[in-house]
Amino acid sequence: MFYEDPRNHGLAYNPFKAIIAPRPIAWVSSQDTEGVLNLAPYSFFNAMAEFPPTIVFAPNNPRPGGGRKDTLANIEATNQFVVNLCHYDLRDQMNTSSAHVDPEVDEFALSGLTPAPSVNVKPPRVKEALAALECEFMFRVRLPSTNPKAENNAVFGKVVGIHIDDSIIVDGRVKMELYRPLSRLGYMDYSVVDNVFAIDRPDQDLDSYDKTARKHSDKDK
Ligand SMILES: Cc1cc2nc3c(=O)[nH]c(=O)nc-3n(C[C@H](O)[C@H](O)[C@H](O)COP(=O)(O)O)c2cc1C
Repeated sequence: MFYEDPRNHGLAYNPFKAIIAPRPIAWVSSQDTEGVLNLAPYSFFNAMAEFPPTIVFAPNNPRPGGGRKDTLANIEATNQFVVNLCHYDLRDQMNTSSAHVDPEVDEFALSGLTPAPSVNVKPPRVKEALAALECEFMFRVRLPSTNPKAENNAVFGKVVGIHIDDSIIVDGRVKMELYRPLSRLGYMDYSVVDNVFAIDRPDQDLDSYDKTARKHSDKDK
């Protein structure tokens, strides 16, 4: 099949997000200027650079009833946020935190999660998450939108602190089988990363990071 008009794919359900899958989930904690906590998942998310570590995510459609998402409003007001990474065991709490509730509602409390202090930013991280990225807001790019009532946005963040739970570090590497990050597919579907294989690169010797990766994958054979 081939289609150009995103609303005219001819299928029962829009396949766009199903083919760009799996997507990692940025579970973003932020605070308003009064200190009210906010937490919400965003799967239009990824890493864009390593030095400095840079991420992007997309708070897009308006909240029901209008207005921008609390996450975006908080980040633009305070310039700081945390991207928590969600693993399989936290899938229900993550889902609960996506509820469209009023800005005064603290989704940490709503989802039964514990705020843990961050080091370099004011918004707390999710204590139960196995990894978290403390971020400073860089800038927002307003993306085109074909829906006059909806904004599309790409929010860029510079990572200023990285938390990794020691329990998932084995032999100096994050052990994915212990981490088990959750990822978003299309429709209402999710996946979990729990099997891993390595592929050597053709020009691996040019890259010291990849040399380390090869040493490990050789060892694993
Ligand atoms: C797994 C998952 C991924 C989501 N990804 C996005 C996304 O990338 N962009 C977006 O605008 N909304 C996304 N949502 C919906 C938001 O989480 C939801 O609108 C939330 O209420 C926003 O909260 P806030 O207003 O507190 O920021 C996602 C929801 C779920 C469950």
